[in-house]
Order: sequence, then structure tokens, then C-alpha cells
Amino acid sequence: MLTLGIESSCDETGVALYDSQRGLLADVLYSQVALHSEYGGVVPELASRDHLRKTLPLINECMHQADLPLAAIDGIAVTEGPGLIGALLVGSSIAHGLAHALKVPIIGVHHMEGHLLAPMLENNPPEFPFVALLVSGGHTMLVEVRAVGEYYLLGETLDDAAGEAFDKTAKLLGLGYPGGPALAKLATSGNSDRYKFPRPMTNRPGLDFSFSGLKTHTRTLWQKLATDNQQENAAIKADIAAGFEHAVAQTLLIKCRRALQQTNCPRLVIAGGVGANQYLRETLLAEADKQNWEIYYPRLAFCTDNGAMIAYAGNLRLLAGQTDNTGIRGLPRWPLEQLNPPGQQ
Ligand code: KG4
Ligand code: ZN
Repeated sequence: MLTLGIESSCDETGVALYDSQRGLLADVLYSQVALHSEYGGVVPELASRDHLRKTLPLINECMHQADLPLAAIDGIAVTEGPGLIGALLVGSSIAHGLAHALKVPIIGVHHMEGHLLAPMLENNPPEFPFVALLVSGGHTMLVEVRAVGEYYLLGETLDDAAGEAFDKTAKLLGLGYPGGPALAKLATSGNSDRYKFPRPMTNRPGLDFSFSGLKTHTRTLWQKLATDNQQENAAIKADIAAGFEHAVAQTLLIKCRRALQQTNCPRLVIAGGVGANQYLRETLLAEADKQNWEIYYPRLAFCTDNGAMIAYAGNLRLLAGQTDNTGIRGLPRWPLEQLNPPGQQ
């Protein structure tokens, strides 16, 4: 079965073709970073309009890359939520129009299911069950994944998501948008031990997270330390960035360790945009080495938003005979635990 996947939940338009026999045949992405950067963050209305401009050309590019006609498509998968409502509705409208024209089934995919199944696109995919750390701009969750569609929430953030904390901290340090990669880059030249940062919620039991205090701590620290000397400021900022990045990574590590102990499962999957963070990857890999965990990351391009993960997740559900008859829709909020295994609506 050849599935066309469309992702448009936030600031990236992703389109991909996944075939259940031959694997990933094409994958194209358009990032709106340049569009939003002058505003310091994602402007939802501009995001919707840009998805509208880019989705059809990207579908054409994808078919061209795979050297296949539109008529070869057997089914369409589109991100239905969670995400920005306007952006989701653009993807859903185009997907439904195309499904109607081609007379093929369509399935709405949960964006976070796409992220947590992204490592399945790699050569050495994890076996079930596994624990997934989902760390993106909108979510921070630990999920026990017993099978596709069997997701048990172990813990989540009570306030800011990890990616959101990276983005807001980067903004207050004047690093612009997108903040996560910019802050990570600056952190490589900083000294993480120069200032003390808390590891929020690690000294009490449980698997929930909270990152807003860390962000406030960083703001207060920066306001206290900022000087009139630009050179000194640059060094302080790099040390703050490194301290902040280490605090987030160590906090995530402590909770992952706890989650694997609690579930008695030695397999960890890292997914979502913050999974692209090099220091976090190194920290978790080093621990995996020590503890004999198996650890799985999608390639960097599949950590952040992409069409391939949506095509893959949708393909599994379409193959099981699942389709949507809900019409065009976008679900800004959609709890992951509401999903069922493929084939069960
Ligand atoms: O999964 P994603 O592409 O989109 C959402 O579904 O949110 O994640 C985007 C988030 C942003 O907050 C971005 O700053 C963060 O992932 N991010 C990073 C890095 N690359 C992306 N955070 C830290 N270090 C990075 N290298
Ligand atoms: Zn995402």
C-alpha cells in the first residue's frame, strides 16, 4: 500500500510517500523558519497561509522524487492534531480534496504518534514494548508503548514543554527564533558549571515535569548578571545557555531512568524536536551504556516535524482497514491515550 503523508501542524510543511513493501520512497520538507523569524516566534495565520502555498507543490515534488503518478497513491494520511487549528485545517482540506479526487481512503494521524513511531523508519527499529520520551515544542511526555496504538501516559509536563522552555530561554537571551538550536549552539562554547541551575521536580517521586521555573530562574539570573560590556555579556550568555541545557538534559535523564525502572523495560525511544539536541543525545547514550539500556533515536531530520512519520503511522492504520469518515477537521488538543490499535476506530 502506497500512502501519501501530509504534515502541517505547526511551522513545517512535510510531505512523504511510504510504501508498506518498499519503505520510504520520497520525503520533502519546507520549513517556515525564515518567515517567522522576524516576529520571534510562530505567527499562526502566516503559518496557515504558507502551508496553503507550499503543500501542493511539495506533493508534486514528492511524486517526482518517487517517479510515480498521483494515481499510484492508495491512501492518504494527514496530521489531524494536536497543533495550530488553521495550519491543521489547511493540511486536512488538501488531503480530503485529494482523497476524494483519487477515490482513496484517508486517515487522520495523531502528530505525537507520528513522532513516537519515527524510529521505526530506521534500519534497526525498536521492538515493543518500549518507553518513549517525547520532547517537542508543545509536549514533554513519558509514554509506555506496549504496541502501536497502546499508549500509557507515565508522566508529562505540568507547564512548559521542554522545547518551549528552550525557545523562551533563547528569546530572553536575545537568540531569536527558532530558539532551541540557537541556544544549543551557544551552549557548546559555555561552561555549564559556572552557575547553578535546579533540576525541577527530581527530588520528589513521580514522572511529571515542570520547566517554567527553570526558565524563570534563567531570566532572574540573566537580569542579575547582564553588564554594559558586550564581550562579558556574550561569555555570560554562553555559560547560562550551557547551564540551562545541562539542567534540562539531566532532568530528562533522571525521569527516563525512573520510567525504565518503574516499567521494568530496558528500551528507550527519544522522539520530538528536542531529541535533536546533541548534549541530550550524548547524556542518554552514556547512561544507556552504563545501564545496559537499548536506546533508539530517529535520524535528526525525523526528530523534528516531517511528513515521513505521518505517512508511516497512517500507512499502518490504513493497512489495518482503518479510515476516517469525519470530514475535514483539525483537533488542537487530542490526548494520545485516546488512540486505539490500528483497525479499531
Ligand atoms: O517536534 P518539533 O519539530 O515540533 C513540535 O511538534 O513542537 O519540535 C520543535 C521544538 C522547538 O521547541 C525547538 O526549539 C526544539 O524542538 N529543538 C531543539 C533542538 N532542535 C529543535 N531544542 C534543543 N536543541 C536542539 N538542537
Ligand atoms: Zn512535532
